[in-house]
Amino acid sequence: MSSEVLSNVVLIGFMGCGKTSVGRELARLCGNVLIDTDELIETNYGMTIAEFFALFGELRFREAEVELCDWMKDNLKNAVIASGGGLPTVYDLREIGKVIYLESSFEELQRRVMNDKHIKRPLFDKSAADLYARRVAIYEQMADYTLNALDEIPQIARKIYNYIRGY
Ligand code: S3P
Repeated sequence: MSSEVLSNVVLIGFMGCGKTSVGRELARLCGNVLIDTDELIETNYGMTIAEFFALFGELRFREAEVELCDWMKDNLKNAVIASGGGLPTVYDLREIGKVIYLESSFEELQRRVMNDKHIKRPLFDKSAADLYARRVAIYEQMADYTLNALDEIPQIARKIYNYIRGY
């Protein structure tokens, strides 16, 4: 595995912005591993995120996210991290790596989430537009670099790759 790109890269943004898809492409470009925080929590707890919310509630989910971030901070190097959309509200991800924000309008994200039949997102309900409005300032403030999430995935991944290599 190449260690060409030093430091972790953390992708942030609202549900549906493409963190996992971009992360996969970026990890391939860098030759580094992809860590998807939702997937890791699902594996560790043996249930889907929707089941986790139904069984334990959001507060416990945030605690699980914080525990995972503490672990990533101490143990990960040169990883690409696709974060859950709420992680920047409970953890300063700049402690883990370079933070990249995939930005988009709420309407486009809503369209994408509605079309995604595979993943159930418990917080994408009637109040999702308000949640989005509250989150945007947090994402913007935490980001080292912001990109348009509507560009093609390979193009976004290439821009991030160039950014972290200092071009
Ligand atoms: C959440 C986003 C989800 C998942 C959970 C809560 C949020 O991840 O972590 O449902 O609070 O925005 P994605 O952003 O990958 O959908």
